[in-house]
Amino acid sequence: MQEQIINFLKRSKGYLSGEEISRSMNISRAGIWKYMQELRKDGYEIEAVPHLGYQLVSVPDKLLAHEIQFDLKTKIFGCRVVYHETLSSTMDEAFKLGMEGAPEGTVVCAETQTKGRGRLGREWASPKHKGVYLSIILRPKLPPTELAKLTLLSAVAVAEAVEKVSGVKAHIKWPNDLLVKNKKLAGILTELRAEVDQMKFVVIGIGLNVNNTATQLVDGATSLRQEAGKVFSRVEVVQEILRSFERRYAHLDEQGFEDVMGAWKERSHTLGKRVKITDPAGIVEGVALDLDHDGGLLIRQDSGVIIKKMAGDVVQLR
Ligand code: BTN
Repeated sequence: MQEQIINFLKRSKGYLSGEEISRSMNISRAGIWKYMQELRKDGYEIEAVPHLGYQLVSVPDKLLAHEIQFDLKTKIFGCRVVYHETLSSTMDEAFKLGMEGAPEGTVVCAETQTKGRGRLGREWASPKHKGVYLSIILRPKLPPTELAKLTLLSAVAVAEAVEKVSGVKAHIKWPNDLLVKNKKLAGILTELRAEVDQMKFVVIGIGLNVNNTATQLVDGATSLRQEAGKVFSRVEVVQEILRSFERRYAHLDEQGFEDVMGAWKERSHTLGKRVKITDPAGIVEGVALDLDHDGGLLIRQDSGVIIKKMAGDVVQLR
């Protein structure tokens, strides 16, 4: 009900009388008062003027489900949004929901994480109300061998959303780190639950530094605020991420992946550079030549031999 009241206030121009709200929503005036008090507790600033009614002055800077879903206009991504003030990691909560059968496009958001994780067991710093920390559940009809497609698609979707909301152009370090002027703006983690030849579900975790000041960032990281010199609505950032994911994901057929690869290459921070890649098989050094058709990275070693890597930690040498 609070959700409906807030949407009603958002859509109305000027004041809304208690009588109008009461009639449209079929609740008593005392009920409205109670809901308004609860909304204020959630951080909504609502002005009440005798004889005029109620007006929404400001919304809280929180990634609340109904804020994200308001005017979102996607069909799958964000169909369900699960919000928590604090989680150990949105990945764990998304995995739990995935196991319980949560639908594709379910999003888990937190304002802070106590055990935010990055790739290769690294920690992901998650200062409260500063960044976007979310996980999305996907149920792709792809074999696990094509997971790299989703990894590249995620990087492209987040980079496009960032650019649309802030004008900041991020480059992609293979496979899916977003960098601005060599500093890390966002990281993406892809984890999956698979059975022999089928992915049961995939969880895409996105950590994006949005309103962090310099002192709220770890070494080598940047934020949208640092790059653009202003504060952004994290809700808008999340909405745009979900919209661009939906656009790209809906077309993940042959042609669609060609388009993703094109967009990825256009933003690449890796191709043409000398790289050192570490994975469980060892260390490989050489020049990053191109993406293969399945999203793997082709590297020409000094011996002239070209090898392909599907995952690994990349260090760019020069
Ligand atoms: C990386 O660059 O190493 C990937 C970082 C991924 C961080 C996000 S924040 C939301 C989600 N929950 C986590 O614990 N990790 C991912």
